[in-house]
Amino acid sequence: MSNKIWGGRFAGRPDAILEEINASIDFDRKLAAHDIAGSLAHVAMLEKTGIVAKADAAAIRDALGRIHGEIERGEFRFSRELEDIHMNIESRLAELIGPAAGRLHTARSRNDQVAVDFRLYVRAAIDALDAEIRALQTALAEKALAHAGSVMPGFTHMQPAQPITFGHHLLAYVEMLARDRGRLKDARARLNECPLGAAALAGTSFPIDRAATAKALGFDRPTANSLDSVSDRDFVIETLAAAALCAVHLSRLAEEIVLWASPQFGFVRLSDRFSTGSSMLPQKRNPDAAELIRAKSGRIIGALTALLIVLKGLPLAYSKDLQEDKEGTFDALETLSLCLAALAGMISDLEPDVARMKTAAGAAYATATDLADYLVRELGLPFREAHHLTGRLVALAAKKNVGLEELSLAEMKRLEPRLTKAAFSALGVGNSVASRTSYGGTAPANVAAAAKKWLSALGKRG
Ligand code: ARG
Repeated sequence: MSNKIWGGRFAGRPDAILEEINASIDFDRKLAAHDIAGSLAHVAMLEKTGIVAKADAAAIRDALGRIHGEIERGEFRFSRELEDIHMNIESRLAELIGPAAGRLHTARSRNDQVAVDFRLYVRAAIDALDAEIRALQTALAEKALAHAGSVMPGFTHMQPAQPITFGHHLLAYVEMLARDRGRLKDARARLNECPLGAAALAGTSFPIDRAATAKALGFDRPTANSLDSVSDRDFVIETLAAAALCAVHLSRLAEEIVLWASPQFGFVRLSDRFSTGSSMLPQKRNPDAAELIRAKSGRIIGALTALLIVLKGLPLAYSKDLQEDKEGTFDALETLSLCLAALAGMISDLEPDVARMKTAAGAAYATATDLADYLVRELGLPFREAHHLTGRLVALAAKKNVGLEELSLAEMKRLEPRLTKAAFSALGVGNSVASRTSYGGTAPANVAAAAKKWLSALGKRG
């Protein structure tokens, strides 16, 4: 038997291998609820415009409701022979109500149908991601507030550069995540146009009401060009680009957690809930979740790249190539959601070793800039001269294998006679961070205020 839905022109069955390459039901069944929502909006419009009679519309509506229930309860029998979610549902509709089922597809094609389903899916995924990113921001801002004054080394070139606070470091990620949410929001605003009614590619001769279906499905307006409507996947690409960048941010934080949790750094301790053991090495506490978050960014970036390549060189309007838009997108958006949840859990549980971070912050001459700044402020030296003088003091200390604060005043005076005991105050890490009060700087007072501001913006009391 040829295909029940499109088989009119065919005498024979498709080859098994065609069915294998062509069928999308194994993955596009995820669109079922959106497909039914699109069909309900479409049939309501067909009824209102008089294109389909009331009785038929009512029968279609009831049966769609029943099918929705069957799918939700796991009772629906999906068939690969019926290719995709659209034809699986339409075929079941015919089983339930007979020929009237065939009226649902009036003034519609699977091309605009899948375009609307996928927009609805991506829109819902963006909304879910926004809430998940926000939960991670909240976990970070809470930890940042608790550690607004906990000193740690700040790095450039992965070399200790200047003391900063742990809270300040965490809030840097809150800012990145805010931009990620902004990009997803932008993508959502642009995607919120309804392609339903573009039909196969050219529009339709039926007197449809596209504004009505757009409104019923929560879109701002119908799309303006029928060719663009069925061939556009910009909305997915934009969303994947935002997701990929967010995944990169998560990966950077995950990498820092991996470093911080290593015994060599020993800056943080992961909770038992977020540590794994080794089957051979009993002493190990591995940060597997952080490593996987770091690695999973790869498949999210991969999904973006894959879809860009699918679209590149694809002529208007619909081609079956576009069916390849789904699996990677589903996987990428679900993966990002999993990573966000795992990272939020890890951050909430994370216990920084405040004493160890403070010791590390003072090591490796990390307060040399504070001494140079002091020389500028107290002795009126030009910064370049102060930098040079401090460099010589660091060289002297390094030669003696001691910290700057362990040099004697006499040794210091040999290089700059105007130095007094007060210079030593510039060398404490606490003083160092407390002095960085410039806007956006790491001073604990700044960090506490920024964390509180974020928590209130995120809907939490600071
Ligand atoms: N399963 C198809 C897809 O995901 C639906 C659209 C099929 N349209 C067609 N003309 N064959 O793209």
